[in-house]
Amino acid sequence: MSTRAVVLAVGHYTPERVLTNADLEKMVDTSDEWIVQRTGMRERRVCSENETTSTIAIAAAREALERSGLAPEAIDLVVCGTVTGDMWFPSTAAHVQRALGLVNAGAMDVGAACAGFIYSLSVGSAMIEAGHAKRVIVIGADALTKFTDYTDRSTCILFGDGGGALVLEGQENTDRGVLHTVLFCDGNGIPHIDLEVGGSRFPAGSRQAEGRRTKIYMNGNEVYRFAVKAMGDACVRCLEQAGMSADEVDLFVPHQANIRIIESAAKRIGLPDDKVFLNIDKYGNTSGGSIPLGLYEAERTGRLRKGMVVMTVGFGAGLVWGANLIRW
Ligand SMILES: CC(C)(COP(=O)(O)OP(=O)(O)OC[C@H]1O[C@@H](n2cnc3c(N)ncnc32)[C@H](O)[C@@H]1OP(=O)(O)O)[C@@H](O)C(=O)NCCC(=O)NCCS
Repeated sequence: MSTRAVVLAVGHYTPERVLTNADLEKMVDTSDEWIVQRTGMRERRVCSENETTSTIAIAAAREALERSGLAPEAIDLVVCGTVTGDMWFPSTAAHVQRALGLVNAGAMDVGAACAGFIYSLSVGSAMIEAGHAKRVIVIGADALTKFTDYTDRSTCILFGDGGGALVLEGQENTDRGVLHTVLFCDGNGIPHIDLEVGGSRFPAGSRQAEGRRTKIYMNGNEVYRFAVKAMGDACVRCLEQAGMSADEVDLFVPHQANIRIIESAAKRIGLPDDKVFLNIDKYGNTSGGSIPLGLYEAERTGRLRKGMVVMTVGFGAGLVWGANLIRW
């Protein structure tokens, strides 16, 4: 009998500080009407100076672990999807390991930008299915506002901070768990979203870094075009490979980057509005955090219940994209 990675519990964290469209109107030449129409966003959460990505990851993982009822010693692995770790190294997952006293766990970050949770869930569930781990904490957490240029109206309206976490456990003789995942990348899209300074090509403070961008750059139109196609394609491929149809999906929890991108993906696979989970109005684009945050809120509000099939899909810098099918 094959082993499935079953979701035991979900947790979340969002910073207290709220940045509204009205706040942004005072910072750049924009309007509430434009932002709502083009993106579906009304407000987002922003880390304080003392909060970092590990603050989000630790709080989300702590809540998930508490709700799972497991002891810290029971966890074998922490996988954290993030591109805004506290430092280049050590990993954010290492901070989670220490803070929660996960004395038997390995820890690693997965860098897949806004698809970080999709990729991390794939890694975590595959480790369980392969028998290398029994219980895994999978996190998606980012603090993009730390790298946002608040003079660039085309990007600064989009991003917020937050994240969520799942506790997975390997179980046999169950139809629950992560059913299938698809992952994709097209590196030709590298120029469309980046953060130049800080890596080994333009090390911070080096001669090579002079005049280079220290904040997020994005070609919104290119990313938009790509995302509309990629989101739909990933869902179709994931369903096909799992041998399932869209009718079997009870809830769709997509990456919350733009309401128009989400609506077109849902339309492409023929999902009615009431199966589409949205919280983009409250949080904006929280990168790797958006999907687990959505799963958390969907469960807490009763829209996601045990036994339901949930499909997640996301895309991000790389360009990377992918989807997961989970029976909750
Ligand atoms: C960024 C995005 C919202 C822009 O929406 P859009 O409908 O494509 O708008 P455009 O970029 O074509 O800009 C239209 C006009 O609005 C202007 N504009 C851009 N940002 C604006 C803002 N915040 N407020 C007001 N006007 C704005 C542009 O300058 C442009 O003006 P012009 O016609 O005079 O040149 C959209 O492209 C998008 O969501 N892209 C995907 C981004 C994404 O998902 N990134 C995350 C990856 S994980």
